[in-house]
Order: sequence, then structure tokens, then C-alpha cells
Amino acid sequence: MITLISKNNFNVLINEKTGKWFSFDYVTNNCVIKNITNKKLKELFCNYDEFKEYLSELKNSNEPVNTKLIDMNYLILHVSDVCNMNCKYCYATDNLIDNNSNKMTSDTMIKSILKFYKGNDFYVLFHGREPLTNYDNILKTLEYFKDKKNIHFILQTNGLLLDDNKMKQLRKYGVIINVSIDGINDNNNVLRINNTKIDYTRIILDKIVKYKINPIIIVHKNNYKDLVKITNFLTKNGITSASYNFLWPTSESTELSSYVVPQELLIKEMKNVFNNSIKDNKFIFKERDLYLLYGRILKRDIYNYMCNTSPCGAGKNCLSIYKEGQIYPCTMVNCQKENYLGEITDNTRDILNKKVILKTRDIKKIKECSTCPIRIFCRGGGCSGFIYNLTKDINAKSLYCDYYYEMIIYIMQSIYKMSNKKFFINN
Ligand SMILES: C[S@@+](CC[C@H](N)C(=O)[O-])C[C@H]1O[C@@H](n2cnc3c(N)ncnc32)[C@H](O)[C@@H]1O
Ligand code: SF4
Ligand code: SF4
Repeated sequence: MITLISKNNFNVLINEKTGKWFSFDYVTNNCVIKNITNKKLKELFCNYDEFKEYLSELKNSNEPVNTKLIDMNYLILHVSDVCNMNCKYCYATDNLIDNNSNKMTSDTMIKSILKFYKGNDFYVLFHGREPLTNYDNILKTLEYFKDKKNIHFILQTNGLLLDDNKMKQLRKYGVIINVSIDGINDNNNVLRINNTKIDYTRIILDKIVKYKINPIIIVHKNNYKDLVKITNFLTKNGITSASYNFLWPTSESTELSSYVVPQELLIKEMKNVFNNSIKDNKFIFKERDLYLLYGRILKRDIYNYMCNTSPCGAGKNCLSIYKEGQIYPCTMVNCQKENYLGEITDNTRDILNKKVILKTRDIKKIKECSTCPIRIFCRGGGCSGFIYNLTKDINAKSLYCDYYYEMIIYIMQSIYKMSNKKFFINN
């Protein structure tokens, strides 16, 4: 099906099935016309003859092939239920008692990896509340697998316990480190500082700059206006990649809704981040989601991110292991009965085949998405786990739908402008 979207005299024709799109500037009224016919195009555009040859390329394009989301290759280990911070927005299960029973043993870490690693490229993410509260067991696990060069370890940390010695050891094992922080001043970090008496922002920023770590920033009302400033600060300090993830309230913490950035303001700021990040069609700063969205739109690399897609990779190519070896499809739904997949001692096929609620989010069953002309690029408006935890409806519309719709059309228009061509068709 070919759909025309015309917005502010930018026109894009999209093959909804294949993600091939064709664009040009022409003065028209804003509209969305599904199943557009050649007759209608001739009526709308007097220059039809100039571009008609592109239409057969658009119609006859191939569907993108899914080669990425095939194997189970991503394991999230919830190695500790303990955290040395108390962020106001934290969705991760909270345990205030810092003892060994709240931490995963190195034996469980190793058994979990051995169960699912089949010799191909494999990713292990140390996660939890704060994984570095269980550093010794992480270290034992890294040592155990030191000769398996295609097991890639990632650490997601709040950074407070990172120091020179740990950095040296983690780097020796090739661990990729992501540190969470929400910006460059205390106001930006208000949802993370939450009663912390220490000089949090300075301490973490110093480490990010010193160790050249890519930060993960949760975007909310107290930092969205500073996103370009944050981008410039990072670039100036030699950090050219970061994730700007959006805040998600949960059904238990709906007061967080007041920190969600209104869509039109978020769109405006993220457009600025995009413009500030790309020069001559090359990213000088890679904000992960924009960068991946751009790849989906331009190169039809539709399956480049297992999270932002419905159905997502959870429970199929990604599993989350809770501290005693209980298995869930993703860290977002740890400890939920309706998402329990089994134990690491169970049969692998049974674990992967078990039908749980998180696996059932499906773009075809989401009312708004099922007919959305850009759904092939957006794929459902973000993380299925966050959407489920907020609404308890697995096929609910995303809180960030307007953002994705606007941003995708904007990225198409930017690609068109950067091409300097009268007519542009993507790869
Ligand atoms: C739960 S933490 C665990 C790892 C570590 N303690 C940390 O803070 O990075 C993982 C990530 O989830 C993010 N996060 C927590 N609650 C969130 C929420 N309600 N919405 C969006 N992101 C959230 C955190 O900022 C962090 O980047
Ligand atoms: S540091 Fe991470 S785990 Fe700890 S409270 Fe904050 S977001 Fe949650
Ligand atoms: S979330 Fe919104 S923009 Fe994305 S596919 Fe669904 S309807 Fe379209």
C-alpha cells in the first residue's frame, strides 16, 4: 500500500510494507491519503510526469529481511537487588537490606551464561538495582569467561562505586560501561539525587569525563531544555555517544506523570538535538535512539533495535535472569507472575516457547499503530515493558506516539534536504 503524507509542502510517498519512501517539495495542503492512486497523484501534483518513474521502484521494492532478531543472544543478569541510591523514578524492585541473599552468586551468573551461550556472539548485561554492589561476584564471572572472546559484557551502573581500580579491571575484561546521569547540573538530576547529601552531579560527571563513558540520560521536565547543552558538554569532553531515554511513569508511581515532558516541547528539543548532531549527513554525536531511528528510515534497517519494536526481542532473543535464577523476558517485568518463564534449570526450549504477556504486544493489535502509515519505522512507540507497566494493557497506545510520528517525518524531511536532490528515494 502506498500512502501520501503531505506536511508543510513536504511530500512523502511511503510503501507501508517495505519502508521504501520517496519525497519531494511541492506546495500542497496537509493531508494523509492511504492507497493513493496515480490518478489522484496527477490531480495533486502538476509535476507528476517528472517523478512518475520513481513510483514503480517504490511499488516493487522488497520487504526488509529480519536477520538480527533470530537467536537468543542477550542475557540480562539482575545481579543485585540492592542500590546505594534511591532515584525517585526507579522501576527496579527495591530492597533496602544489603546482604548476600539480595545478590546473585557468581555460580548462578556462570550457570545462566553457560545455559544460553552457544558459541556465537553473545551479550551479557550486568544489571539490577546497582550491579556494582555485587562487584566481587561480577569479577569472578568475568574471570571465568576471560577466554570466550565472543561473550561481550556490558555494565549498567549509577557510577557511584566506580573508581580507577575497578575501571582498570573492567577494561581488562573488555566490559562496555554505561553510566546513568540526567544532566550537567543538580536541577537536571533532581529525580536521581532524591535526598542524596553528596555532591552527586559533580562526582559522576567527573568520572564520565575522566573515563570517557557514554551516559544514559532519562529525559524529563527538569532536563529537556538542556539537552543541546548536555550534548555540547559531552562532545567538548570527547564523548560522542549517549542515550537520551524518555521517562516512563509506572502504574504504582503515576505522580511521575507530572515530570513527563509535553510532546510538543519534547519534539522541539529533540529536533534541536538531531540538528546539532548531524553534519553533512554524518553523525558527529550519536544519540542512540535518533541514530537508530535514522538508520531505520534511511537504510530500512528496521530490526536494528530489539527494544523499540512490537513484538520486541524480550523472551525471544533477550532474557532476564533474576537473582536466584528465575527467568523473565526482560528486566522491566522481573518478578511479575504473568511474565514468569521458568528457572535456569528448566528446559531451554520450554523457556523460550512459553507464552507470557510481554511477548504478546503486537503492532498489528495496537489500534492506532495498526493503520499508522509510518509504523514500519516506529514499530509501536517504544519499550513494551514500560507501556505495560504503566497501563497494564499490553496493546495500549504509547505515551510517546506523537513524538515518534513527528520525529520520523522530520527525519525524512531532513534526509531529503541533506540530499540536495529534487526527488529523493531511500535505499
Ligand atoms: C534500573 S537502573 C539499574 C542500573 C543502575 N542502577 C543505573 O542507575 O544505571 C537502569 C536504567 O533505568 C533507568 N530508569 C529507571 N527508572 C526509569 C523510568 N521510570 N523511566 C525511564 N528510565 C528509568 C535508569 O535511569 C537507568 O538508566
Ligand atoms: S541508581 Fe539505578 S537502580 Fe538505583 S535507584 Fe537509581 S535507577 Fe534505580
Ligand atoms: S506509536 Fe504512534 S507513530 Fe508509532 S506506530 Fe503507533 S501510531 Fe504510529
